Amino acid sequence: MLNICVCVSGGGTNLQAIMDAIESGKITNTRIVRVISNNKGAYALERAKNKGIDAVAISPKDYESREAFNDALLACVEEAAPDLIVLAGFLVVLPPAMVQRYGGHIINIHPSLIPSFCGKGFYGLRVHEAVLERGVKVTGATVHIVDEGTDTGPILLQKAVEVLPDDTPKTLQQRVMEQAEWIILPQAIQMIANSH
Ligand code: GAR
Repeated sequence: MLNICVCVSGGGTNLQAIMDAIESGKITNTRIVRVISNNKGAYALERAKNKGIDAVAISPKDYESREAFNDALLACVEEAAPDLIVLAGFLVVLPPAMVQRYGGHIINIHPSLIPSFCGKGFYGLRVHEAVLERGVKVTGATVHIVDEGTDTGPILLQKAVEVLPDDTPKTLQQRVMEQAEWIILPQAIQMIANSH
């Protein structure tokens, strides 16, 4: 059984996709042991609680320094003792100690085809704004293993999505989620859960 800890910051549609895939049997041998958000108001926490999953908010606002927040975040993860950490829309730079501790066992979903439109400053809607500004005709999503850099780790899965002429950042974000993110993130977890 693969015990996963899912880290979220916002709406939690990728978390929902993971929970749905576990329920429908698309993901097997996997249990979500904890959901952690840096944002107390994240709807993702409600989604977890609705399924009876342990959901915890660790907000930087409650700590006097970044170091204290980082320590609390790592302690919260360690308490859940996961085999895999899934960053599902977690818009926080991971504490370096967490990457060292769980190296190779952290995955992230990014809403573009890495190495395009990734790295510092490229998150959430900003990615899709940049895609439209540049005028590329194909975008997509990537699941990768997290290393010390920002969106630099080994790529596990990618899926391309067409950019349409009338797209706004929001319509493009929605299509990338529906046609790529909600598919490849559960697929990556299923691959890892059944790879040994
Ligand atoms: C998703 O589009 C995810 O790819 C993105 O944040 C959104 C979270 O949505 N992540 C990043 O930009 C990471 N750099 P959700 O809360 O509805 O799953």
